Amino acid sequence: MSTVIKGGLVVDQTGERTADVVVDDGRVVGVGPDLSGDEVLDAAGCVVAPGFVDLHTHLRQPGAEEAETIETGGWAAVRGGFSAVVAMPNTNPPIDCAAVVQEVLALGGKAPCDVYTSGAITVGRRGERLAPMAEMAELGVRLFTDDGNGVQDAGLMRRAMEYAAGLGVILAQHCEIDSLAAGGHMHEGEWSSRLGIPGVPAEAEELMVMRDIALSRFTGAPVHFQHLSTGGSIAIVQAARQAGVEVTAEVATHHFTLTDEACASYDPVFKVNPPLRPPEDRDAVRQGLAAGSVDAIATDHAPHPPDAKELPFDQAPPGMLGLETALALALTELDLPIAKVVGLLSWQPAAIAGLNGVHGGPITPDSPANLCVFDPEETWTVDPGDTASRSRNTPYAGRQVRGRVRHTIVGGRAVVVDREMRP
Ligand code: DOR
Repeated sequence: MSTVIKGGLVVDQTGERTADVVVDDGRVVGVGPDLSGDEVLDAAGCVVAPGFVDLHTHLRQPGAEEAETIETGGWAAVRGGFSAVVAMPNTNPPIDCAAVVQEVLALGGKAPCDVYTSGAITVGRRGERLAPMAEMAELGVRLFTDDGNGVQDAGLMRRAMEYAAGLGVILAQHCEIDSLAAGGHMHEGEWSSRLGIPGVPAEAEELMVMRDIALSRFTGAPVHFQHLSTGGSIAIVQAARQAGVEVTAEVATHHFTLTDEACASYDPVFKVNPPLRPPEDRDAVRQGLAAGSVDAIATDHAPHPPDAKELPFDQAPPGMLGLETALALALTELDLPIAKVVGLLSWQPAAIAGLNGVHGGPITPDSPANLCVFDPEETWTVDPGDTASRSRNTPYAGRQVRGRVRHTIVGGRAVVVDREMRP
């Protein structure tokens, strides 16, 4: 059965044109005027884009299924327009060997989006010895990270880089120097002083960014920086790129939307790692996206069940939901052309994850039908109860945003139609 997406503005890396898009048997089979198909998806007033790719999703399975499962996280993803996600390895057990990779990929086969997984850089994400990266790479893992932790030992990180270069995979770093961040629960600055909450200085992130740039230059291995949150980090990355060092960077939606002042509520829904920063950092993150020194918008979707987020601020775990609000926040908060936002959410992260050709477009005949259709003008109010996630920890409850996903197609299958999930 074929599907035609009718009357939308097709936006991909080749440009923009008004066209119908026909999908059949998992692939795009036609792009042009006045096309027909068995099922019609209305796209009038909408953008037809490559499905989004999230480089940074916590799916919680195995081990914390009360917060999320690969399947529920997958539904949150497609409701947010994502056709692919890269799962983070801080599960229980962690994704640090072939057996767990196989389990995650098998469960991912039942999710509505394509589920890729990262692998841990070190055994147990403990930062002591290298995980068996080759056996995970053999199963298709392209991105390795100890996310949730940074790799503290510079010598170990150097060896991981040398190994990764040989395997043709990419290392992604959660930049945080533990000895500087220890005991902190929010950004260290004026608000942490006022609130009496111990802080994490910007330098805890920036020093590891600097170190890994030096190691990348030294080893010749590319590094991807995860969820950068400070103006200093963005400036350091920009300078390194200008000097020809092969580094890429993502930022999370909350770091261009919220600031550390939100913690004045003492509500742990605003606790996240790296922490929300002051307005000047938020603005630098926005400028980094506009200037092209940041390659991708990631969600850092980090579900936590209500009982965990009802603890006092210093005891609650860090993390916030992100998959279902990412597009709207990017369109609402960033003063960027739509094509630029789409690139930051789709073909740019797809390239980092090594998924080009499968995800991220271009939308042309014979390409895989991974697509997202969204209305860039529709305004809506974020409702924590209206989510496919098992958790409710969105920091945007009650916020008015603009831009809403209408249909999502994964592998040719319409899994979200007129905002309704189609199991
Ligand atoms: O806020 C965060 N939550 N930052 C991380 O690095 C980990 C994540 C989680 O797993 O909850």
